[in-house]
Amino acid sequence: MSTGPPSPASQRRRQCAAAVAAAAAACLAPLVVFLAVLVLAPSLIPRLLLRPHHVVPYVTSAELRLLSFDTAASALAYNLSTVLRFDGPPGLYARRYTGIKAAPFYAGQELGAAVALPEFTQRRGGSGGGGATLPVAWAGVQRVTPGGRGARAVAAALARERAQGLISVKVAVRAAQDGEESDFACVLSFPVPRKRDGSGRGAAPGVFDGGSCADAVRGEF
Ligand SMILES: *[C@@H]1O[C@H](CO)[C@@H](O)[C@H](O)[C@H]1NC(C)=O
Repeated sequence: MSTGPPSPASQRRRQCAAAVAAAAAACLAPLVVFLAVLVLAPSLIPRLLLRPHHVVPYVTSAELRLLSFDTAASALAYNLSTVLRFDGPPGLYARRYTGIKAAPFYAGQELGAAVALPEFTQRRGGSGGGGATLPVAWAGVQRVTPGGRGARAVAAALARERAQGLISVKVAVRAAQDGEESDFACVLSFPVPRKRDGSGRGAAPGVFDGGSCADAVRGEF
């Protein structure tokens, strides 16, 4: 066997192999970048483009027990409750929800003051979005300026909706998600609640099976 310097033929083979490797690397580099983008895009693009601080809540259920307007007193009596949920996408980080509050409105009239809800941190990953279930209830009597446009709007809306059989209450929600504040509007649509009969039986709330909320313009509260 020869142990001398490599033959010109084997040198050419080595040069050729090096050229093939360089060409393959040149070809593969864009492919690797392309694959990396393909793998990362589904998690990166929503975070970059779709406002990662912005999970829109939804209503899982709601009950309307009372909504009646006393024209003489110009007072709107109300009693309702709902359950709100914020479910983010399974996140890479734990999203923090603060300053959460919710207030019901009927025919443009706010019913009482907004109720503050407990802050929470969304769990990472997991099923169900790791969000929180937030029950909230409002009950009381809201005075409406007698004879004003608001009182007329409330009386007219209630008469019309009772006749149609469905009462719509809007719940305005505000929440800061990782410090960034957003407003939402949830429309709850209830069958007219049934009052107690003479014997004190038969009262039934109007039940709403739930639905999603929508982004709202700031300044509702
Ligand atoms: C509202 O309705 C609930 C359930 O019927 C009742 O327990 C509560 O006392 C009511 N609140 C007011 C202020 O009437």
